[in-house]
Amino acid sequence: MLTSQPDRPSQIAAEERMADIVLPNQSNGFGTMFGGDVMAMMDKAAAIAALRFCRQPVVTASTERIDFRTPIRQNEIIEAQARVVYVGRTSMVVRVRVYAEHPLLGDRRICTTGYFSMVAVAREGKPASVPMLSLEDEEAREEWTIGEEIHETIQARRSG
Ligand SMILES: CC(C)(COP(=O)(O)OP(=O)(O)OC[C@H]1O[C@@H](n2cnc3c(N)ncnc32)[C@H](O)[C@@H]1OP(=O)(O)O)[C@@H](O)C(=O)NCCC(=O)NCCS
Repeated sequence: MLTSQPDRPSQIAAEERMADIVLPNQSNGFGTMFGGDVMAMMDKAAAIAALRFCRQPVVTASTERIDFRTPIRQNEIIEAQARVVYVGRTSMVVRVRVYAEHPLLGDRRICTTGYFSMVAVAREGKPASVPMLSLEDEEAREEWTIGEEIHETIQARRSG
């Protein structure tokens, strides 16, 4: 399915993957990772997903629904997966999931999820139009609905 508009090209959004390992300086006294460092990684993954989708400079405008579901432990391998799930005229909603993996056993679990609104900017920080999103399968259509709801919530908050 294509959510196309005549003046804007449509394209698929790839799932971006970014891996890291949790070092002692990223952990608290309980040996689990700082939430702020997890969010920084998510923000970076969201920026890469948005940049690769629109190929224009982007800024983070807001974050929604960040849930730290399970702790991430020191020495674990972490992987952020990010994909553009919704586009407005100049903004993109990027869904990010963070997984943790035992480095020796390979056991893997989802730890943190969230949505990042990224805005494409042109000269002097002025918002710039982004491509339309091509929805390839049922999962993409379901995620579009969540992104649309987030975009509408933001619009209502801004105009309220
Ligand atoms: C994000 C920013 C470019 C928006 O500029 P603006 O002049 O308010 O933009 P507009 O009102 O024309 O809105 C443009 C788009 O941004 C979206 N937007 C604006 N503020 C937003 C917010 N707080 N959260 C999510 N989306 C937002 C709008 O919904 C709109 O999306 P659409 O075109 O897809 O419908 C501007 O607020 C900014 O530069 N903020 C600072 C960003 C930053 O420094 N981030 C941290 C470091 S990267």
